[in-house]
Amino acid sequence: MGYIDKIFERARADKQTIVLPEPMDRRTYEAAVKIVGLDIANIAIIGTPEEIAEYGKDFDLTDITIVDPLNDPNKQKYIDKFVELRAKKGVTPEQAKEQMEKDYMYYACLMCKCGDADGVVSGACHSTGNTIRPALQLLKTKPGISSVSGFFLMEVPDCEYGENGLFIFADCAVNPDMDSEKLAEIAVLSAESCKTFLGAEPRVAMLSYSTMGSASHDDVTMVADAVKLAKEKAPDLYIDGELQLDAAIDETVGQRKAPGSPVAGKANTLIFPSLAAGNIGYKLVQRLAKANAYGPVLQGLSLPVNDLSRGCFADDIVGLVAMTAVQAQLAKQ
Ligand code: ACO
Repeated sequence: MGYIDKIFERARADKQTIVLPEPMDRRTYEAAVKIVGLDIANIAIIGTPEEIAEYGKDFDLTDITIVDPLNDPNKQKYIDKFVELRAKKGVTPEQAKEQMEKDYMYYACLMCKCGDADGVVSGACHSTGNTIRPALQLLKTKPGISSVSGFFLMEVPDCEYGENGLFIFADCAVNPDMDSEKLAEIAVLSAESCKTFLGAEPRVAMLSYSTMGSASHDDVTMVADAVKLAKEKAPDLYIDGELQLDAAIDETVGQRKAPGSPVAGKANTLIFPSLAAGNIGYKLVQRLAKANAYGPVLQGLSLPVNDLSRGCFADDIVGLVAMTAVQAQLAKQ
């Protein structure tokens, strides 16, 4: 059984309702039909009758809920919630209505916020920024968390490193401005994601181009400071660094460069020192090692919302919906 099949089983055990707010993309319907066929989630697609008729006409949508954003009986409730949530920003009911009708991602987030859905997957035809901004504005972070970040679950074929070739990579998607505090928070959140999605004891490596002080620069100090902060935040977790990538994952190099480290040579969770490094890093592994890259899965949000790559296939949507459903199950516990 492959990694994603195990996630399907978990999603199936307690079915959640996931919203797909991109009716203008055929991959939405292709994925929705597969998801319902696999019985891993209930699906709601947001779209007007015209959009559904134009783009979804070749698909059997019998078991899929269609939410018409212009004539939905719940719409006033969502407008009121939008105005309440954005009161400090001075959003009026007219502005809320206009925004929800123009950008269905807002509509989808409000469905979740009002308890009518459990999670959202979008981004097949929207940029990451446009996909996650509504969630940041309306759903906000979990209590005690200051920034949302995004991880990829990497499944590397024929690989003895990490958790038999499985890794968490973060932050690969969200924070263009990094500092020690943020990096420490990402490390702790990613450890939690490792437990949730790999079912393994997290061994978190804070990556750099230096191992344990072998180089000195502000960039290295930022990572070393983040290690200290992360250990203070979560003293029970195995978090270490700063480590170079080879020292983090390869036992021989790890023992040579960072003897005694509980993480060096055994890392299954890799924290990159910048968004640039994380984003380039996951794409390198995906392309050159032919790895499956599931995500970006957002961590730290109060409710599960996840982003797709615009180059995604319908099967990628199916996989991310299953992961979103698992996050939604956990959010209810
Ligand atoms: N965590 C929590 N809240 C946040 C975060 C964060 N990391 N970043 C911004 N916010 C909040 C802000 O506080 C603000 O809240 P407010 O409106 O209540 O005051 C709201 O989100 C909007 O913030 P802005 O700074 O106005 O929005 P911005 O346009 O900067 O959007 C975004 C934030 C979308 C995350 C931006 O930083 C971004 O585009 N990041 C990079 C995304 C990207 O391109 N990733 C690479 C591609 S992904 C891939 O390849 C799969």
